[in-house]
Amino acid sequence: MSPLLAQTDQARDKKDELRLLVNSRHPIIAIETAEEGRVEELLAEVAAELGVPLFVWSVTTGLARKGADAPIYHTDNPEQALASVALISGDALFLLKDFARYLEQDRILRRMRELGEGFRAARRSIVLSGASLKLPAELDDEVVPFRFELPDAGLLLQVVLGTLAELGKQNQLKVELDSIGLRQLAHNLSGLTRDEARRTLAKCLLARGRADTQTLTDVLEAKRLSLRQEGVLEYLKSSASFADVADLKNLKEWLRKRRGALTAEGQRFGLVPPKGIIITGVQGCGKSLAAKAVAGEWGLELAKLDAGALYDKYVGESEKRLRKSLEIAGQLAPVVLWIDEIEKGFAASGASADVDAGLSQRILATFLTWLQDRQSGVFVVATSNNLSALPPELLRKGRFDEIFFVDLPDAEGRAELFRIHLKRRGRDAAQFDLAALASACEGFSGAEIEQAIISGLYSAFAQKQQLSTEVLLAELRGTRPLSVTRHEDIARLRAWAHDRAVPAN
Ligand SMILES: Nc1ncnc2c1ncn2[C@@H]1O[C@H](COP(=O)(O)OP(=O)(O)OP(=O)(O)O)[C@@H](O)[C@H]1O
Ligand SMILES: [Mg+2]
Repeated sequence: MSPLLAQTDQARDKKDELRLLVNSRHPIIAIETAEEGRVEELLAEVAAELGVPLFVWSVTTGLARKGADAPIYHTDNPEQALASVALISGDALFLLKDFARYLEQDRILRRMRELGEGFRAARRSIVLSGASLKLPAELDDEVVPFRFELPDAGLLLQVVLGTLAELGKQNQLKVELDSIGLRQLAHNLSGLTRDEARRTLAKCLLARGRADTQTLTDVLEAKRLSLRQEGVLEYLKSSASFADVADLKNLKEWLRKRRGALTAEGQRFGLVPPKGIIITGVQGCGKSLAAKAVAGEWGLELAKLDAGALYDKYVGESEKRLRKSLEIAGQLAPVVLWIDEIEKGFAASGASADVDAGLSQRILATFLTWLQDRQSGVFVVATSNNLSALPPELLRKGRFDEIFFVDLPDAEGRAELFRIHLKRRGRDAAQFDLAALASACEGFSGAEIEQAIISGLYSAFAQKQQLSTEVLLAELRGTRPLSVTRHEDIARLRAWAHDRAVPAN
């Protein structure tokens, strides 16, 4: 076997962990995962090592000994299946796929509990697997959960090598990547399940008949699409950098200092990786833009968590979705995880009035636990308009490194905003009187300044003249900024932030 194909740490650890559970006489082991194939392979290995037979059940095939051809008669009926399990004596492992739903029936639940009790005498374990496992509380004493993580780098490398070999046999495949390139390819598949990784890679390889540097990008693109379909997590490429963000000097300085702490090199040097920040403040002043710019500036990928969608789209499986998204984010590391409008997902009272308080409590607890336990490599940037809606646990010291407050830009910041946005629209900022413009728009947010330039372009075009300082000044005069119409809201925000946050500007 090539050294690249040696067994991965993850595979070894998981096998040890599972063997230990079986050896320590745990009657029922619950594995929540969509990766049924991997579970079955892992169990087969554990069974072989322990020298015990493995039986596998699914509703379509019934109960069959792995390796034997015929299933036991009539066992496609779940109750019969449990009866047969009871009749098989001695040490054995039983994998029951998607069995959890039948435990809602009293007789089956009862049988399962009786089985569980008897199992403690031998090395017999039932493994329940399913993409979404809800087990009845009556089984709490018998069941031990087993965490089955997404594939790690080593396993993904196996997928890459395996897929290349397999496709190479059937097709003409030019492989132009060296071993570093192949490792990068494996890394670019992280966050996907093994089957998804295999499918994604095969599709990209077959489309062009070669594995080269273009394949690296193709795979990332395909992964973006595939994660988007999962719903809550969006995997983005950020093209914004600090040069696109006006003002916010303190924030940029803080971030600049910590650049590199997420890389392996920085960590070898002894830098403590930052965990994350919250950016709050006045509307339209660049909170979301700054979050995106962190990823671009640090050269990292950006994953956006849509916390609001947890409630809207996935009623009933919000927690599971969140856990899954956070796990994927962990696999994508090093990555910037952006949680926009965090109050929508993790507010004390739930995202909307009709979300029950229990659910939003559980969602919050899941998130807090993750914040606490997560490994480094995920830098969280949460943005919010209203931190006072957030529960204090979330803001407590230690969860985030810092809370930044973004205020309206000062004159210098406003001039910079004009410079950036005029340039973005192909205008030479030197042709404009930036000082005059900046002083004419006191109290304007970045978004409002950008808007004035956009409407200025319309006016100038309609009047068949070029965009000029005069045209822009006229636009500014015609605008009543939010800081005037929502004066009190902003005053309240500032008061809240005064002793809780540090200024970003
Ligand atoms: N500091 C800034 N530098 C450059 N552009 C800015 C800045 N602030 C705002 N803008 C412009 O305004 C747009 C809106 O800003 P952004 O969405 O980042 O604001 P926000 O603070 O997140 O607002 P909201 O509270 O509405 O979410 C940006 O896309 C950008 O074009
Ligand atoms: Mg925003």
